[in-house]
Amino acid sequence: MRELALNILDIAENSLSAGAKRIEISVAADYAKDWLTIRIQDDGCGMDEEMLARVSDPFTTTRTTRKVGMGIPLFKFSAESAGGKFSIRSEKGKGTCTQAEYQISHVDRMPLGDFGGVILQLVTMNPGVEFYVQATDGTNTGILDTREVREILGSEISLSAAEVRMFLKEYIQENLVDIFGGRI
Ligand SMILES: Nc1ncnc2c1ncn2[C@@H]1O[C@H](COP(=O)(O)OP(=O)(O)OP(=O)(O)O)[C@@H](O)[C@H]1O
Ligand SMILES: [Mg+2]
Repeated sequence: MRELALNILDIAENSLSAGAKRIEISVAADYAKDWLTIRIQDDGCGMDEEMLARVSDPFTTTRTTRKVGMGIPLFKFSAESAGGKFSIRSEKGKGTCTQAEYQISHVDRMPLGDFGGVILQLVTMNPGVEFYVQATDGTNTGILDTREVREILGSEISLSAAEVRMFLKEYIQENLVDIFGGRI
């Protein structure tokens, strides 16, 4: 996997599979500390302690189509191979919080990649799920709160509507992507 954005997509897909109704995604860069923190938090079905303990092992999965689950191990690997760290907390029936941290300047840190495209895809393809996405570089902070977007658009217009896509695309670019100015 060459882009952190694809890791984010994979982890958010776990949240969707877990039946999450609200997913929070945060990307925070601290240039002074040379540190990047990515967090995905959901209110899905969560995991029990035994599952949580095994989950960063690539041979742990509840999928029946194939035996190896790679989403979490790859996210973990992306952080640990870039001078960072990884953690996952989960509570059965409450939700899951997955966090990966990176040394920004580390030679093996993957670029953020098409973060805007991933968020656009998640938001438009899952109109029944609330997303709260935050991007910050410490000075500037951008937020996409689908609940707020729904209030602006009115309840009859779905976030999956074709005409909303352009608006969301621009909003995401301006508020979540441009913040980083290509630095991560
Ligand atoms: N947010 C979550 N909420 C509840 N369970 C989760 C969550 N994330 C992961 N899991 C559990 O952990 C398992 C491993 O997740 P992982 O993403 O590593 O692999 P996968 O989703 O099974 O397969 P892949 O991501 O390769 O398609 C999942 O099958 C699921 O049972
Ligand atoms: Mg997965």
